[in-house]
Amino acid sequence: MLAAPRRVENSLTDKGYVPVYTTALVEQPWQAYNADDHATWDTLYRRQRELLVGRACDEFLQAQDAMGMGAGRIPRFDRLNKILAATTGWTLVGVEGLLPELDFFDHLAHRRFPVTWWIRRPDQIDYIAEPDLFHDLFGHVPLLMNPRFADYMQAYGRGGVKAHAIGPAALQQLSRLYWYTVEFGLIDTPAGLRIYGAGIVSSKGESLHALESAVPNRIGFDLQRIMRTGYRIDSFQQSYFVIDSFEQLMRATAPDFTPLYAVLAEQPLIPADEVLANESALQRGSGERAGQAAPS
Ligand code: PHE
Ligand code: CO
Repeated sequence: MLAAPRRVENSLTDKGYVPVYTTALVEQPWQAYNADDHATWDTLYRRQRELLVGRACDEFLQAQDAMGMGAGRIPRFDRLNKILAATTGWTLVGVEGLLPELDFFDHLAHRRFPVTWWIRRPDQIDYIAEPDLFHDLFGHVPLLMNPRFADYMQAYGRGGVKAHAIGPAALQQLSRLYWYTVEFGLIDTPAGLRIYGAGIVSSKGESLHALESAVPNRIGFDLQRIMRTGYRIDSFQQSYFVIDSFEQLMRATAPDFTPLYAVLAEQPLIPADEVLANESALQRGSGERAGQAAPS
């Protein structure tokens, strides 16, 4: 019998909250979830699913259904793993909290996706700074069923191992790409603008802000611009980047980033809170997107 996994969360120090990193892989202690844990999953699942129909991309919603992810009880990693193994070959591995960057990259490079085993407490329903089971499982795992996105995540992991060897400036640029695609990406579809980023789909407030608020910039996907744009982890994003397709994302990120890191390191940072005039915010956008950006 394995020791019960720990619940590793941010810790409060005299410098405020600091992230705590952990590398252990754990078996999901499914029997240890209590009624509150399952109720938190159920509440969040129902609320987000209802909100996301017509807001999240079809690939995301269809994959959730295809995986049998549903309300009621926290899904079992071993069941999801059977389905993932038969589709894109990804494996979910249980973790206790945030992983050090290189460990995280190595998992992705081997098509292993780390999922936090514990779920937020009832008083954290609307906001928690760090990733928990709801964010990881509900937000990230469905698109691992999509062959193109599944390959993108692995390519990102390999790129991360490489960037880690190059140095901190390269890592920072690469992490902005993750932030503005995997976590906060939007996609333009024939039916309109849709969400695919896990940080958005797992948050009610951010889902509405990303699509329906007139405040944020919605900028056509631009690799170099993304890699120069700072980001905020404690508020809604001021900028979202819009891809046309997962193929576009794959194609644009396929070249070797090594020379790019050096070039971009010399260029000024674009601040996270930069506000663009509406025309430039929508410079590559369609009329439809401009329409959707207006408050409803
Ligand atoms: N092409 C990138 C490199 O050579 C790796 C990468 C691929 C990064 C896909 C992110 C996403 O470093
Ligand atoms: Co995440």
